Amino acid sequence: MSNIFQKVYPFTTENIAGYFPILKLENKSLLTVGSSADQALNALLLGASRVVLYDINPNTYEYLKLKKEMILGEKRENIYKRIISQKIISQTEELFSWRDVQNMNPYLHDDSSYEKLQQVLKEKEIEFKEGNIFTMEETLSNEQFDRIIFSNILQYLPIFIKDSNKSKEEFLKENFEKWLSYLKEDGIIQLLYYYGINNNLNDYIETSHILNEYVLYLQTFSDFQGDKEDGIVTYQKRRKD
Ligand SMILES: C[S@@+](CC[C@H](N)C(=O)[O-])C[C@H]1O[C@@H](n2cnc3c(N)ncnc32)[C@H](O)[C@@H]1O
Repeated sequence: MSNIFQKVYPFTTENIAGYFPILKLENKSLLTVGSSADQALNALLLGASRVVLYDINPNTYEYLKLKKEMILGEKRENIYKRIISQKIISQTEELFSWRDVQNMNPYLHDDSSYEKLQQVLKEKEIEFKEGNIFTMEETLSNEQFDRIIFSNILQYLPIFIKDSNKSKEEFLKENFEKWLSYLKEDGIIQLLYYYGINNNLNDYIETSHILNEYVLYLQTFSDFQGDKEDGIVTYQKRRKD
């Protein structure tokens, strides 16, 4: 199964600068996927108290270590070329320009943000766990997080359902309930990412329908070029009275 996710993304493909402020990560513990490591790096910059990078891709950890080393040893203006030309870990094709990745990543916005990340990287570790969000109980113990980020994994749901002998409704409901057990009270889980909110909203509508006991929010923000809207779908776990 994990052999479909072997290559790492050199940089995120999401507008992290647009949606991380919505998740208010300061002093929060975070579990996040993302083999580019950019979700984890930006969360660290924005003051998350604990960051666990959780990914099915076995190359993610080696890439995280390599990217950290490159950031610590390189100036901001050289980092893009260094990263996209590295040959140690196989990368997906770079689709975005230096300007685009700067827009998407707070840590690349300017020298002072980059230097702040360098400083935080010297003080704090990003933890790594290899695992599948659909069999999380095999890799995570009883820990809980304030935030969980699943990027756009749920777009690949059919691939993971195939081996389960379950209906989509059953599979999603069961997993969602499991994910909530890893979320602290008042914690937020990000379930869907929309590249362009003008695309059809079927995934949001269907997911809301299947998880109809829960209120899912669709929040929009400017895309990385500032000319259309992207979106995330989240759920906030409410304290039971
Ligand atoms: C779906 S990809 C999309 C990349 C993303 N847009 C970004 O900006 O990094 C997100 C990450 O999810 C990981 N992934 C996919 N399915 C997974 C699963 N079932 N459990 C854990 N990680 C998974 C991939 O390896 C990849 O690193």
